[in-house]
Amino acid sequence: MTARIVSIGSDDLDCKEIYDAAEIIKRGGLVVFPTETVYGLGADATSPDAAKKIYEAKGRPKDNPLIIHIADPVDAEKYTYTSELYYKIAEAFMPGPITVIMRSRDTVPLTTRGGLDTVAVRCPENPIARRLIALSGTPIAAPSANLSGSPSPTSAKHAIDDMHDRCDMIIDGGECEFGLESTIVKIDDDGSLVLLRPGKITVTDLVMLGVDVRIADAVTDKLGEGEVALSPGMKYRHYAPKARVVLLDGSAEAFAAYIKANLSERTAVISYTEDQELIKQEIPSADFYDFGSRSDLAEQAHRLFGILRDADKCDYDVIYAPLPDKDGIGLALYNRMIRAAAHDIIRL
Ligand code: TXA
Ligand code: MG
Repeated sequence: MTARIVSIGSDDLDCKEIYDAAEIIKRGGLVVFPTETVYGLGADATSPDAAKKIYEAKGRPKDNPLIIHIADPVDAEKYTYTSELYYKIAEAFMPGPITVIMRSRDTVPLTTRGGLDTVAVRCPENPIARRLIALSGTPIAAPSANLSGSPSPTSAKHAIDDMHDRCDMIIDGGECEFGLESTIVKIDDDGSLVLLRPGKITVTDLVMLGVDVRIADAVTDKLGEGEVALSPGMKYRHYAPKARVVLLDGSAEAFAAYIKANLSERTAVISYTEDQELIKQEIPSADFYDFGSRSDLAEQAHRLFGILRDADKCDYDVIYAPLPDKDGIGLALYNRMIRAAAHDIIRL
């Protein structure tokens, strides 16, 4: 199968191509579409056969459940047991980059939710995504549109690289605005919130709702031997380039000095724009990847997965990068980068 690739502008939501895409979803096929976080690989969430195709196309383990994407926050009623807290979250952040896990109704097949009694629901903000869901007349199950184990795609080019021969259509809607996957929270039985995956909606944003927020251990730490992940996806090594990735925690000078003293034949350095000159001067043989300005976390989030993909094509022995702070959306960067580095962190 070779995907048909179409370009759709956010101001052209009545074009024939988007109706064609919705038709493919209705008939049980696979469509890659843009969201404000990353590109998704979508299929009819209510069809076990369609959901099965997603797992196969990605090479994804069957126990790793899918997020169902809805066009309107109230549509969650049909698929989950909602609560006041759900509506508080929806009011504050939907449509937008947040996913809420709640107890599932029988309307969601077990295949879609990886055999769990809960289901993850997200109402994306990207207009192409919302229009596609609405025209399909069904929720769309969609994981990130990458092959299992590679970074999530933040442009159509990334999605084409991974999925062009594994789906029916790829919608090019330009670069994803944010560039890291949605914040995932679970509403626990006692009504508290557990953060399972940090994203653009931060812990501070959630606390402002006036609820207790617990951060799951796996967000920042390595899971212990035999420990059960609250979110099945957390136990898999994600976003990992082929090269060894090492995170360095220290000043720009210590960062450059460490790399200089530990240089491999093929070394890449991901670092802040401000430090570019220092690094090029101290370590001229290394390739430099510009992570954006030190204080511009949104820009770093936007660039991270693209940089990891580019670097992965160059057969480096080692990729050095700075360890981000855990404040604000820094926590999302921290979470993705410690996984890319398989927790290889050096304190300088
Ligand atoms: O931004 C996003 O969320 C993107 C776009 C396409 O919407 N989607 C995405 O999906 O990142 P995926 O499948 O790559 O990541 C979803 C994560 C997985 O780690 C999965 O294990 C977890 O959510 N998850 C899904 N349903 C769950 C559930 N019922 N309980 C716990 N974790 C769940
Ligand atoms: Mg993913």
